[in-house]
Amino acid sequence: MTRRKYMTQPRKNLLRVLAGETLATPPVWLMRQAGRYLPEYRAVRATQPDFIAFCLNPEAATEVTLQPIRRYGFDASIVFADILLIPHAMGQKVWFEKGEGPRLAQMELAKLAALSPEGAAERLDPVCETLRRLSKALPSDCTLIGFAGAPWTVATYMIEGAGSKDRWKARTAAWSEPALMDQLLANLADATADYLIAQAKAGAEVLKIFESWAEGLPAPLFERVVIRPTRRIVDKVKAAGITAPIIGFPKGAGPHYVRYATETGIDAIATDHGLDTGWAVANLPRGMPVQGQLDPAVLKAGGEVLRSETQRLLDAWGGRPYVFNLGHGINPDVPPEHVDALLAYIRGS
Ligand code: CP3
Repeated sequence: MTRRKYMTQPRKNLLRVLAGETLATPPVWLMRQAGRYLPEYRAVRATQPDFIAFCLNPEAATEVTLQPIRRYGFDASIVFADILLIPHAMGQKVWFEKGEGPRLAQMELAKLAALSPEGAAERLDPVCETLRRLSKALPSDCTLIGFAGAPWTVATYMIEGAGSKDRWKARTAAWSEPALMDQLLANLADATADYLIAQAKAGAEVLKIFESWAEGLPAPLFERVVIRPTRRIVDKVKAAGITAPIIGFPKGAGPHYVRYATETGIDAIATDHGLDTGWAVANLPRGMPVQGQLDPAVLKAGGEVLRSETQRLLDAWGGRPYVFNLGHGINPDVPPEHVDALLAYIRGS
């Protein structure tokens, strides 16, 4: 039997836009749509004291992934997991301090660079099990997204041992110990590529790479620590025959957004709220699908500014393939009904 895969257009709105279509009403989903702003998430979280174990529990992870879909009917569902599962799977201890965020066991750069990418993706099979369950459970118009952190962003957590303001230790390491740093980034890229390939095979229809710390990098470092390792991931995923479109999110990259969009091989680009919209409309590649870039603080503010800022983005990006989203994740203090208001503005209901 011949497969007719290429003769039928994708029907789900997000897949249509990522294939280059411009829709009158853009598909919408929100970063961190499963999270602490939802009381039903907090109820499950209360039964899961260990955050890493929570991410690796397919039953609990499937449930919290589905919560925002039930409540809001988003066009996409992103699997509940975390970018720090990769260091965990490669052998660095990761935990979450209540009210403070992630912590990673301090290790010398040479030790980090010696961690092997082999077997990391297999150790994260519970995330793939969550994806398999989600593919069966999601409504037929909802697209399933898998994700991973980009090597530089994950490396900054591995080196700093926590989130950090200016990534001082990581940037210093990149300049002073380039061989070790490049080795760590290459290993992370390999583990991440395997992991994304496994996610696609488990049912992820779109893959997203979170480069949350792309800000504040001089051009030569941006090339070495962001572009090159990301390109390595994209090349490997595509070489494995995976056709799921890849969204890249180089948060805070500013003018480097153009190089990121054109040189990493990604299929679509997610924009942050700090990026000038007019500049981005003029400078990002014309046909490339764009996602973003509502300031999460606008979602918190609600009311008239939520309406006017949503309209500003719809007007600015309306002429091209566009996916509505925030410029970063939802904050825990956002009232859930503000998300209802946002969806009503976008969908005109
Ligand atoms: O709904 C979704 O978007 C899917 C799930 C998701 C989580 N983390 C769940 C999570 C995704 C896509 C991530 C990505 C992630 N994780 C990033 C990249 C995006 C970004 O925000 O820049 C980063 C940097 C991390 C690392 C991380 N995980 C931090 C810094 C924190 C602590 C900050 C915070 O919000 O508490 C986490 C914890 C985390 N990851 C939570 C959730 C829902 C909150 C944990 C809790 O319930 O206590």
